[in-house]
Amino acid sequence: MSLSEIAGSTVIVTGASRGFGRGTATALAGAGARVVGLARDGDALEKLGGELGDSFIGVRGDATDPELAAELLVRYEPRTVVLNAGANPVTRPIQEQTWDTFRNNWEVDVQQVFNWVRAALRQPLAPGSTVVSFSSAAALRGSPLSGGYAGAKATVRFISAYAAAESQDHKLGIRFLTVLPMLSPATDLGANGAAAYAAAQGITTEAFVRGMGTILTPEKVGEAMVGLAADPGLTHLAYLLMPDGLKPVQ
Ligand SMILES: NC(=O)c1ccc[n+]([C@@H]2O[C@H](COP(=O)([O-])OP(=O)(O)OC[C@H]3O[C@@H](n4cnc5c(N)ncnc54)[C@H](OP(=O)(O)O)[C@@H]3O)[C@@H](O)[C@H]2O)c1
Repeated sequence: MSLSEIAGSTVIVTGASRGFGRGTATALAGAGARVVGLARDGDALEKLGGELGDSFIGVRGDATDPELAAELLVRYEPRTVVLNAGANPVTRPIQEQTWDTFRNNWEVDVQQVFNWVRAALRQPLAPGSTVVSFSSAAALRGSPLSGGYAGAKATVRFISAYAAAESQDHKLGIRFLTVLPMLSPATDLGANGAAAYAAAQGITTEAFVRGMGTILTPEKVGEAMVGLAADPGLTHLAYLLMPDGLKPVQ
């Protein structure tokens, strides 16, 4: 799908109410797509709809719900699906985690990607469609203060790769890929992580953020998602998402 083909196409973005998902929904609507944005916070969706106008359809719901996933894929027949929703990890050392805090991102992030990817294959989505799942750079090296987050995000990457292989084997023509954003204090989730790692290092969050250099913003994530949707030549299974764009992960 070229940039001009995004205009008039339909995109579903989960976790569109704030952070990277909001940036993605805004950028894709700006490129002319009809954007269906899913999240639990109906007020935030309504506010975003007020900004984006008729090109935005807010759906209040839980991204982990398998029936909702299947229903939205059938109803909207999206060309692009961005599985961005994710739980904010409970940040504390492993010995202070409980199984309930540790498994948080497995219940939300992994369950969401499992249900949507499964529904996309079983429907199946039209050839030429793209399903982008949000993993994390933490999936490559761990995140010791984030409980089960890094492992959950590594599993997101595996699920997407398994689906890519099924798409190829069954000649479905659906592109499945994963993006691995670096830590970004510009969102609620990333700010929580930055504060935890700053405290562990005995420095202020401001000093920690300064040390990070250029920050990945929701706007930059949105730009990268437009680029991915528009360029069918981006066929790696996974891309690091940095402030200066996407880098294939081998
Ligand atoms: N920021 C970072 O540093 C960073 C780095 C690497 C990867 N990531 C990944 O990027 C994605 C977006 O993160 P973010 O930083 O933008 O986080 P955020 O600001 O905390 O936003 C999370 C979004 O997910 C939605 N969400 C959470 N649980 C949901 C559920 N059960 N059903 C529907 N929506 C749900 C939230 O909406 P509601 O609360 O309204 O439902 C919100 O829109 C996540 O997958 C995250 O793991 C972030």
